[in-house]
Amino acid sequence: MREGASASHEAPVRVPVHLGVIMDGNGRWATSRNLPRFEGHRRGMEAVRRCVRAARELGIRYVTLYSFSSENWSRPAQEVSELMGLLKRFVRHDLAELHASDVRVRIIGERASLPRDIASLLEEAENLTRANTGLTLVVAFNYGSRQEIASAAQRLAIEVAAGRLSPQDITVERLNASLDTADIPDPDLIVRTSGEQRLSNFLLWQAAYAEFVFLPIYWPEFDHAALLGALEEFARRERRFGGISARSGSARP
Ligand code: IPE
Ligand code: IPE
Ligand code: MG
Repeated sequence: MREGASASHEAPVRVPVHLGVIMDGNGRWATSRNLPRFEGHRRGMEAVRRCVRAARELGIRYVTLYSFSSENWSRPAQEVSELMGLLKRFVRHDLAELHASDVRVRIIGERASLPRDIASLLEEAENLTRANTGLTLVVAFNYGSRQEIASAAQRLAIEVAAGRLSPQDITVERLNASLDTADIPDPDLIVRTSGEQRLSNFLLWQAAYAEFVFLPIYWPEFDHAALLGALEEFARRERRFGGISARSGSARP
């Protein structure tokens, strides 16, 4: 799929088809205001709503939000339970409106080990919105890219051991099709808030040719203007995918 022209007048000429977002800095936002970390997560949820709305307005087709990583289980039990509670609240409160806005919800990440009530809410969100054709909102929940790749490798190995697949069939395309993101195009742009400049196990395979923008704001501060700024930066980048520059004399940094 190609990057598209935006539907909106105020948008940059070139918007990513798929935007990945590492929503980071909720805790620091709260701590810097002498508030409990939970308040940062709660306000982060409002930033999620602003982000989805802005993405729809700007004509982005896919948004993947990193909402809970495989490694986030190592946080204090109370914070983990607050984050689970917020996810439940988000689905219960926002699902009807997302559906009414033609948003298709997809969940990536490991689901088998999730608490039953969470797993069924996620399933409900996917089932209700399956046929929608507007923005695809991919929620990376209990997601780790290394775990995703290892699971895909395991499934392929089982096929080989059963004689249904030969080792030569394990190509880039086949492995790609075995990931949670099988039918989702690779992210064109990955934005991370909070100033950290790392992927933290997010879409490692899929981000092979993604552009990165690191924003010096905490996630609860994210809004339409912040997204627009990131998109403007993205629009200035020249993506080469291993080829050569289309602009003459632009080989030097
Ligand atoms: C992002 O904010 C939310 C999750 C990782 C669930 P953090 O909770 O990581 O906030 P900081 O990075 O500690 O400030
Ligand atoms: C990444 O943020 C995970 C999510 C945003 C859900 P973290 O706060 O967990 O990442 P690290 O630990 O700073 O790398
Ligand atoms: Mg963090």
